[in-house]
Amino acid sequence: MPEDRTEQPHIVTCTAPVNIAVIKYWGKRNEDIILPINSSLSVTLHQDQLKTTTTVATSRSFQEDRIWLNGKEEDITHPRLQSCLREIRRLARKRRNDGDSGVDSASLSHKVHICSVNNFPTAAGLASSAAGFACLVYSLARVFGVEGELSGIARQGSGSACRSMYGGFVQWIMGNKEDGKDSLAQQVEPETHWPELRILVLVASAERKPVGSTSGMQTSVKTSCLLKHRAESVVPGRMVEMTEAIRKKDFAAFAELTMKDSNQFHATCLDTYPPIFYLNHVSQQIISLVHRYNKHYGETRVAYTFDAGPNAVIFTLQQHVPEFVHMVQFFFPPETNEADFIKGLPVNCASLSEELKQGIGLEPMPKGINYIISTKAGPGPRVVEDPTQHLLLSDGFPK
Ligand code: DP6
Repeated sequence: MPEDRTEQPHIVTCTAPVNIAVIKYWGKRNEDIILPINSSLSVTLHQDQLKTTTTVATSRSFQEDRIWLNGKEEDITHPRLQSCLREIRRLARKRRNDGDSGVDSASLSHKVHICSVNNFPTAAGLASSAAGFACLVYSLARVFGVEGELSGIARQGSGSACRSMYGGFVQWIMGNKEDGKDSLAQQVEPETHWPELRILVLVASAERKPVGSTSGMQTSVKTSCLLKHRAESVVPGRMVEMTEAIRKKDFAAFAELTMKDSNQFHATCLDTYPPIFYLNHVSQQIISLVHRYNKHYGETRVAYTFDAGPNAVIFTLQQHVPEFVHMVQFFFPPETNEADFIKGLPVNCASLSEELKQGIGLEPMPKGINYIISTKAGPGPRVVEDPTQHLLLSDGFPK
């Protein structure tokens, strides 16, 4: 039977950010509802550079839940999508039964159509599941009229997604309850807290797709005793120190902890059996470059962190961005011209002294980095008020 396209759907569009962890989440104690073995802390990146946009429509005439991702219809029966849909509907029902007049009772029984796109290429290998699930949960909540704490639902889509539910500096408290009710994200400081902090995403040219986070961390939990030690004895202290470094805007302390935590995460990957390698020769060259640069100036001006792939995320202060970007251009001569190499926030010109180039003493590695995204900390998910931005037409189908 053809679907009845005459009923006007209720449509909501929202956007959500990507986040980058400075204290890494790696390992679950519950695979089904996604409970981590340690707390983690991240910086939410600005949506002007990296975001997911999601439109959700509900209508009496829809016959089934459906989802389109980056222009292609995907399988809605995916367990993590189902968890998010089920939990939002459960929460909406509960709120309605508790007498919350904001909940849209009519749409509760309706099916949903979901359409989602990223403003960055999926091929860049940037973690898009965090922004994707955060945006899905935020949009579903809006369409059903549910407000309040939603990170516990986003967490069940993808662990790191719970941290994308807030802007600025965000911690995911691991919690200890078996039902996960206390495993939630919380803002540590807002995005306005540290305006000088800048973030550069160095998009590396990856040769092959690395092991996914979900299966990688599963093997690590099973086989790495270093991971167990990290979760039990290292991360608790680092969470306190990191929160303090951010509160005081102490860049040197923030940078050192960020680099050490990234290194320890990759050490647990190497301690996994069989081992997992996310860093490649380009990543290693970036690590050397950062340490040599800091050493040259005798202070920590730049920090790196790497997730489950070879892209580097660099933290620095605004005043050091031009010189560091030119260093990257010098040591990783790009294929493209300057305008294509740097995307996002504008970077002023800087010249590199011979003394600095000599001091670094590395061999340039042509084409190791495809491009740089220049960004900063940014806000959490938002509703898009302009109806022309909806990704679904008034019949509830993709544009
Ligand atoms: C290395 O959140 O992608 O980026 O919960 O299985 O979906 P699942 O994993 P995911 O893992 C992210 C791991 C990380 C570190 C981090 O973001 O904290």
